[in-house]
Amino acid sequence: MSLQFRNQRHVVKRGRVERASRPVIPYGRHRLLPEDREALLNVLDSGWLTGGPAVADFEAALEDVTQATEVVACSTGTSALQLAGALVDAPPGAWWLVPPCTFVASAQAARYCGYRPVFVDCDEATGLLCPDALERTLSAADAEGAAVAAVVAVDLNGHPAPVERYLEVLRPRGLPLIRDGAHSLGAVDLDGKPVGADREGLLATTFSFHPVKLIAAAEGGAIALSCREQAKRLRGLRSHAMVRNPERPAEYEVTDLGYNHRLSDLHAALGCAQLARLQSKIDERKQLADRYQRAFDGIDTMQWVGPGDGTKSAWHLASILVDRQRRWSILEGLRERGIGAANHYPAAHKQPTFTSYGPFPGLNSSEAYCDRQITLPLYEGLTFSQQDHVIHEVLQLVRPERA
Ligand SMILES: Cc1ncc(COP(=O)(O)O)c(C=O)c1O
Repeated sequence: MSLQFRNQRHVVKRGRVERASRPVIPYGRHRLLPEDREALLNVLDSGWLTGGPAVADFEAALEDVTQATEVVACSTGTSALQLAGALVDAPPGAWWLVPPCTFVASAQAARYCGYRPVFVDCDEATGLLCPDALERTLSAADAEGAAVAAVVAVDLNGHPAPVERYLEVLRPRGLPLIRDGAHSLGAVDLDGKPVGADREGLLATTFSFHPVKLIAAAEGGAIALSCREQAKRLRGLRSHAMVRNPERPAEYEVTDLGYNHRLSDLHAALGCAQLARLQSKIDERKQLADRYQRAFDGIDTMQWVGPGDGTKSAWHLASILVDRQRRWSILEGLRERGIGAANHYPAAHKQPTFTSYGPFPGLNSSEAYCDRQITLPLYEGLTFSQQDHVIHEVLQLVRPERA
C-alpha cells in the first residue's frame, strides 16, 4: 500500500516507508475528510483515549449497518477471528476448515485457538469456498474420525460467499460457521440480508478496519453476533477477562484466558466517522468496478472477478484472472508502468508456516485462482483518467500479440 505524507508520495518497502521513485497508482488507499479529523479531535478533547464512549457508539453504528443483534469492536480483523474462535467449543486439534484463497489470518486463527487448519477448495472463477468441496472435506473428517471445530467462509474481494449453501450442509451436523467479512462490510447476500446479519448456524461475522478496507480506522476489527451472552463473553475476553465487583469496582477477578484486543476511542471515532459514509464509498467503488468490467468485457485472455448474481458486493478489491504462466510478468509489467498491482492472495496452504499441517491435496481450483489473480487499483478518489491509464496498460499486457 502507498501512503501520502505532506503531499509527498511514499511507498512501503520491506516494512519501511520510503519515498517513491515515481508516482504510483496504488491498488488501495484510504481517504480522510474533515469530519474524520474532527471526530479524532473530539476524542482528544474528551479525556478518553481508550475505554471511553466512542467504542460503544461505533458498535451501535455497526449494529445498524449489519443488522446483527450485537457487535463487539476489537483491535484488528485478526483479533476478531481469534475472539470468534474462542466461542467454538471443540477438542484441541479439531479441524478448522478454511479456504486457501484468503489472507493467512483466516487460517492462523485456527492455531491461536488450538485447532488444526484444514484447507477446503474454492471456486476457480471466484475464489469463494466451494460448497461441494466443503461436503467432501466433512466426509473426509468423518472417515478419519476427526472432530471439526468450525468452518470459516471468506467474502473474498467483498463479494458475498454463498453462506446459506454452507449452512445447509453445516446445520444438520451442528457445526458453526464463522464468516470472515474483512472485505465485505456493507455487502448484501442473495436473500437481501446485509453481511453480518443474524442467521441460524452462523456463529459470528468478523470485520477488519485496516486502511485498505472499506472503513479505515487505522487498525480495528469487530465481531457481529446473534447472541447477547456471547457478546458479553467477548467483551470480557477482549480485555483480559477481568470481572469487576459491582459493589467495589476497584476490585476484580480474572475468570478466563483473556487478551488485550481492545479498540481505542481514537480508532473507534475514526471508524464511526468513516462508517457514516459507507454507502457512498461502496457506490464510488462500484462505479469504478463497472467501468473495469465494461472495458474488459469480451477480452478472452483475462476474466473479471465479479459477485454472484443477486448479491451486492462491497467492492473491496478489483480482481482479474490472467494466464497462469504470464501472471507475474503482467503484474510486474503494471508495476513498472507505475500501477501498484498486487496479488490477493498467494494460496494460504502453500505458506511455509502451514507445511507441517500438510500435505494438502485436492486444492487445484484454489491454486488456479490464486496463481492467475491480479489486483488492480480500486479506491475512493481513483480518478477516471487514472483508471483509464490502468485499463490501457492492462489491455496492452494481457493481449498476447502485444506481449
Ligand atoms: C480476509 C481477511 N481476513 C482477515 C484479515 C485480518 O485483518 P487485520 O489486518 O485487520 O488484522 C484480513 C486483512 O487483510 C483479510 O484480508
